Amino acid sequence: MTTPFPSARAHERLIQRLADSVGVPAAVSWAHAAAVAHHCVRHRLVSVPEPPNSPDSVRRVLTELASAHPSLAGFLDPRAVPLWTAPLPADSWAALHGFWGTGNLLDDGPHRVDGYRLGDAYQALSADARKSRALCQTPPWIAELLLELSLEPATDEVGPQEVRMIDPACGTGHILLQAFHDARVYRRRGRTSGPFLSREASIERALQTVTGADLDPYAALLARYRLLATSASILHVRVDQLPRTWTAQVACANSLLDRNEPLLGRGRYHAVVSNPPYITVADAQQRDLIRKAYPRVAAGKFPLALPFCELMFSLATPGGHVAQLTSNSFMKREFGRKFIEQFLPEFDMRWVIDTSGAYIPGHGTPTVILVHRVRPPQGDTVITVRGVNGEPSIPEDPARGKVWTAIAEAVRSRLAEDRLKDALSSMTGIA
Ligand SMILES: C[S@@+](CC[C@H](N)C(=O)[O-])C[C@H]1O[C@@H](n2cnc3c(N)ncnc32)[C@H](O)[C@@H]1O
Repeated sequence: MTTPFPSARAHERLIQRLADSVGVPAAVSWAHAAAVAHHCVRHRLVSVPEPPNSPDSVRRVLTELASAHPSLAGFLDPRAVPLWTAPLPADSWAALHGFWGTGNLLDDGPHRVDGYRLGDAYQALSADARKSRALCQTPPWIAELLLELSLEPATDEVGPQEVRMIDPACGTGHILLQAFHDARVYRRRGRTSGPFLSREASIERALQTVTGADLDPYAALLARYRLLATSASILHVRVDQLPRTWTAQVACANSLLDRNEPLLGRGRYHAVVSNPPYITVADAQQRDLIRKAYPRVAAGKFPLALPFCELMFSLATPGGHVAQLTSNSFMKREFGRKFIEQFLPEFDMRWVIDTSGAYIPGHGTPTVILVHRVRPPQGDTVITVRGVNGEPSIPEDPARGKVWTAIAEAVRSRLAEDRLKDALSSMTGIA
């Protein structure tokens, strides 16, 4: 049993309380850094033995993390972590300390160190991340299905040592963490044994497989922390005991416009998996730059989902697998016409899964899962999962909602059928 998480309103009240003394950006930073400090002390990822009991102790943990591993140096950068610019008064600390309590409400469940709740906490604490950048965590059960439809077949094709995946709007890393675990334990289906890999080698391989980028410097830093914290906990070591040559490959970048970021190299990834932002860009200058860079899809009042789709296709290798959970607004509005009639038909669409009836926490916009291969269309079959009814009421456990369960079962039974056909045809030699 995991401890219930404070409500979105309770997170907002905490920020209002702290912001009175340090302003909103430092308030969010203090509130979240205290959560990170609890997380790494609880899981023995740093040498500090005591849970944070003062603002100084939070700063001590961040300082240790920053020197523990080159990928975490950003914990000392005030642009990503504004708490360095504003000391927290004692009465504000008392409110913050009371909020996280012993820190057990940050646990993801027995034996899990992945930091899902740390990601959720950042979303709940930062109104700026939610409103200006559309941060909305992708639940792990959705990430799992997206990866089954993309990273898994890509790995079957090119092999676990070679395969590379990217999420170019990775937020705090919910999809990356799931991909990391999938890459770490990959065994080709149907094969009883694969080459034996030590824990170290499987973690190193998974860190090499998984790549991400996000506009939000703190979200990118948190995704790096989560990858390394999980790696360290699997090995039962502190973060500073991980090899310094291992890197958490997550960049802070404007993925749509930054052409100099090496991790955003075009044509490199066998699987591109994302839940891109759906908002329209408020800043007119930015909107024009994006329109110029993506003239084929950015028409009218385009949401970011459309240029992100083109970006995802361009990041993939020829034939690469692209899976996205995105807004379905392009199907209903004029800005989607060019996208549907001219852009999408150039690619091999594999799946269209209507998720508009599923309850996905935080995702108020109706969604769809699109799965493509980056090559001209092959054959004349696109598999669709069509919605019939919406969720009758908000499910207690969204991962087990009636609509989502029906979708996941439909997809997995079709995948199983296809695998069986492939296995039979390879045995009999019939194509
Ligand atoms: C729907 S959220 C993705 C959440 C992520 N899958 C997770 O579970 O944490 C969209 C993300 O896109 C990022 N974003 C928005 N515009 C971006 C851009 N131009 N380049 C890179 N990331 C961007 C936001 O910061 C946000 O984290």
